[in-house]
Amino acid sequence: MIVTEADKLPEELIDVFVNTKYLVVLTGAGVSAESGMPTFRGEDGFWRKYNAMDLATPEAFANDPKLVWEWYDYRRGILDKTGPNRAHEVIAEMEKHYPQFKLITQNVDGLHARAGSNKIIEIHGNLWRVKCQKCDYNGDFMEVPLKSNPPRCKCGGFLRPDVVWFGESLPMGAIDSAVEALRACDTVLTVGTSGVVQPAASFPLIAHEAGAAVIESNIEPTPITSICKHAMHGKATVLLDKLWNAVIEMEK
Ligand code: OAD
Ligand code: ZN
Repeated sequence: MIVTEADKLPEELIDVFVNTKYLVVLTGAGVSAESGMPTFRGEDGFWRKYNAMDLATPEAFANDPKLVWEWYDYRRGILDKTGPNRAHEVIAEMEKHYPQFKLITQNVDGLHARAGSNKIIEIHGNLWRVKCQKCDYNGDFMEVPLKSNPPRCKCGGFLRPDVVWFGESLPMGAIDSAVEALRACDTVLTVGTSGVVQPAASFPLIAHEAGAAVIESNIEPTPITSICKHAMHGKATVLLDKLWNAVIEMEK
């Protein structure tokens, strides 16, 4: 069933969350949109303005490390001026509420942790961490002396954001943990993901095939919608707040 911001949430939808013991939340750029961080594919999305191949590939960094580093600086700059929104907060509250919980995120912005989430599986890395291109150094961006652009490691190699670029493999440990959670959970809530970038795009299907209920929160229909038990179409802040208030009220 599909509901919008204006609708009363159906009781069966609230029941799903009341009866869940193991919840997995899967998020994409849309959860951070209302914090002022542009998404990738929307109307004002990054990939409408910039070419992903010039900014988010190992080749791009090899060709123009300064440009790539500055693009991440620009995004860190946006994040310095903003913070988590109500959708991030509700997801952090869900973690405290359920006996078993995992948050799988494609986002690299660190906003979930700032909202208080702990059980986070970051499948695309984090732009607040850096790693060396030459040695195995991996560290906190805040602790790096920014003497050049990009900064250099003690070993002399360039430091790069510790994120997954197109053409790179994803962290295997994170993917294994994500799949294990998806197979074991009762419910998957997807928030603000277009469902077109693999492997995250197939995560809801893995859970669906293992018998979990898939619930979507997105401003518009996505390829995930067709396997959803319920889809909520509207702003994540509005819909997650409404959903969570209803679940807490029902449990009183
Ligand atoms: P996309 O930009 O592809 O999709 C964002 C989704 O959020 C869209 O489906 C929007 O409809 C939805 N959305 C936007 N605003 C929203 C709001 N206020 N409330 C709810 N939903 C909203 O972002 P991702 O799915 O995260 O990868 O993209 C996946 C990956 O592609 C990213 O991790 C990134 C990108 O290229 C890499 O950089 C490797
Ligand atoms: Zn190094």
